[in-house]
Amino acid sequence: MTTLVRAKDTGVVVSCVRVPKSAPSFPNQEFTPTSYVFDEELNEWVSIYFLSDDGFPHYTSGGAQCVWFDNGAQQHNANEFGIKLTSINLGNSTAKIAAYAMYQRQQVAADRGVAPPVHGMCCFKWYDTMNQMLHTFWGYLSSVADTEADVSLNADSEYEYRSYVMEIERMAEKMDAIIEALDELDITHRQRDRIVDSIYEEVNFVSIDDIPSFEEWCHDNDMEIHDLDDLRNGLNDVSIAGLQHDWSPINCKFDAGATLGGDLHRGNVADWQGNIVCIDFGFHCVEGAGRSDYVIV
Ligand SMILES: Nc1ncnc2c1ncn2[C@@H]1O[C@H](COP(=O)(O)OP(=O)(O)O)[C@@H](O)[C@H]1O
Ligand SMILES: [Mg+2]
Repeated sequence: MTTLVRAKDTGVVVSCVRVPKSAPSFPNQEFTPTSYVFDEELNEWVSIYFLSDDGFPHYTSGGAQCVWFDNGAQQHNANEFGIKLTSINLGNSTAKIAAYAMYQRQQVAADRGVAPPVHGMCCFKWYDTMNQMLHTFWGYLSSVADTEADVSLNADSEYEYRSYVMEIERMAEKMDAIIEALDELDITHRQRDRIVDSIYEEVNFVSIDDIPSFEEWCHDNDMEIHDLDDLRNGLNDVSIAGLQHDWSPINCKFDAGATLGGDLHRGNVADWQGNIVCIDFGFHCVEGAGRSDYVIV
């Protein structure tokens, strides 16, 4: 790497770093980085994208915190990268730091085989030609995992759900028998219905037509839908002590005891080259005693 010191026209002396490598490039990419610069604050190389359009570019998907462009990258290809952006940078560096914190976490997780690989940080600038405003987003480049892949269901939850459904079916059969028996008695339909209703209420009766789906039932009962124990254990083993804390200045790092493995659900896991891995490294993935503590270094 060569560092050049040169005087600009204005007379201000600046140092610039000749880039020893170029920003990632692959055959079908939709957005091509305009430059690759070294960010002194982050101590990281950053791919810069610039787009001038009257609307925000069409993105592949997004969640509560991020916007994701697969950028034409192939799934399972460690040399091609999608672009993940955090929310807009409002000028106080929050988005840049949050993106950096996520990037660092995915990087350590990828080294342990529990996340797709990352390439580096990126800065995405969109000039909104309609409103003549420049918006800056920060994020990072990540290889593309298969989000449609099957993830096996949690065996304990499946067992509990089956027992729950069987119990409802048993109850429904019993109720049919009770109604049949009541019909034999010399009572009016109204009296019969009142008795049936009071039994329904007493036993919290659920009709077979109202049985929730497995997913709904898991959700209502705080049960795991998918079998993510191995992945969670793998992520829990990854320490993020010393990595950037999300909502704090650049010198604030997570303290001992902070790990990964939180917020694991279907939209945040995907298949990377045959293994189920985590793809969402937003703050919710941080777990452990050191989750909210940071040290200033
Ligand atoms: N590495 C990836 N490969 C494929 N799709 C991804 C990847 N990262 C994110 N996505 C897609 O983008 C969505 C949002 O990303 P995510 O990191 O979960 O952000 P959020 O914090 O907003 O939920 C994911 O649910 C997924 O569909
Ligand atoms: Mg998510």
